[in-house]
Amino acid sequence: MTVDRIVTTTIADEDAEEQRIEVSLRPQNLSEYVGQERLKKNLKLAIEAAKKRSEPIDHVLLYGPPGLGKTTMANVIANEMGVGFRVTSGPAIERAGDLASILTNLQDGDILFIDEIHRLSRAVEEVLYSAMEDFKLDIVIGKGPAARSIRLDLPKFTVIGATTRTGSLAAPLRDRFGHLYRLEFYTPDEIATIITRAAGILHATIQPASAKLLSSRARLTPRIANRLLKRVRDYADVNGDGIIDTVMTEKALALLEIDEIGLDPADRQMLTSILTNYGERPVGLNTIAALTGDETTTIEDFYEPYLMQIGFIERTPRGRIVTQKAKRHIENSK
Ligand SMILES: Nc1ncnc2c1ncn2[C@@H]1O[C@H](COP(=O)(O)OP(=O)(O)OP(=O)(O)O)[C@@H](O)[C@H]1O
Ligand SMILES: [Mg+2]
Repeated sequence: MTVDRIVTTTIADEDAEEQRIEVSLRPQNLSEYVGQERLKKNLKLAIEAAKKRSEPIDHVLLYGPPGLGKTTMANVIANEMGVGFRVTSGPAIERAGDLASILTNLQDGDILFIDEIHRLSRAVEEVLYSAMEDFKLDIVIGKGPAARSIRLDLPKFTVIGATTRTGSLAAPLRDRFGHLYRLEFYTPDEIATIITRAAGILHATIQPASAKLLSSRARLTPRIANRLLKRVRDYADVNGDGIIDTVMTEKALALLEIDEIGLDPADRQMLTSILTNYGERPVGLNTIAALTGDETTTIEDFYEPYLMQIGFIERTPRGRIVTQKAKRHIENSK
């Protein structure tokens, strides 16, 4: 996916510095993890109960838009349980054999984190859900008439799956998860807390008013909040004395062309071209993708969740509709 925008919620694999910072900002336990109160309450209970029984916790599926803290939460669960954490992803497990070797190398109690779990192939999915169900692995050895099937015992492990889209997950796999949680957008106050915490870790001085201002521009998403903070810090270091005040923040955001509700030029352009070409009529996802030149998954994962959250786009059976609210915003920002 080629999304080169400051508000993009992914980080390019090759951006090592960005990845290193992201890791250092990542909360390690439940008390550091800001927000998602309902999720934390439920998990706290599940973790305590599992520890009491000396059992692994039930499989967990975390879903929701990118950058809201799914990977972070998986890591937190492993830390809170005090167990090993193995990381893989849907696209990385190509064949059933790849999964078999991952599973047979797990230790009792380990957490296996499968990112982008909706991208597992059907064949791999089938092996996975039987392993999740009864901790057994059926493998076929040899080919043709000599082939025979053997059944291996697996250690008791926990799968934590993460996905931006539950819709694409096969029902039998989804049903194997004891815990299904949707991550919600954060409140501006929670985002301000995350920014202040991150500034502390990065040894940046930020005034509370600036943290508040930034929190209104970060699309209610921690990853974007942290990224904006770093850009504003750069700006304040170069153009001021390094202190992040509201003047520095405003100037840096203007340079990045992030408007007062966190939209960037690509969002505004998308909304404008839908309004120009279709007005208030419903538009299909493919048409929107054609208008912006993005893939449909990019529209669904990156543009839409926040625009829907703030009531700028509505999904109807006949397509997406740009709302009056969005229209007013676009007209006022011209
Ligand atoms: N609850 C939180 N409190 C503080 N910081 C957070 C929280 N959630 C996420 N972050 C910060 O945001 C960054 C992005 O979170 P994370 O990588 O967990 O998102 P994700 O949901 O896994 O995204 P993706 O779908 O792209 O994989 C983390 O590195 C962390 O610094
Ligand atoms: Mg992740």
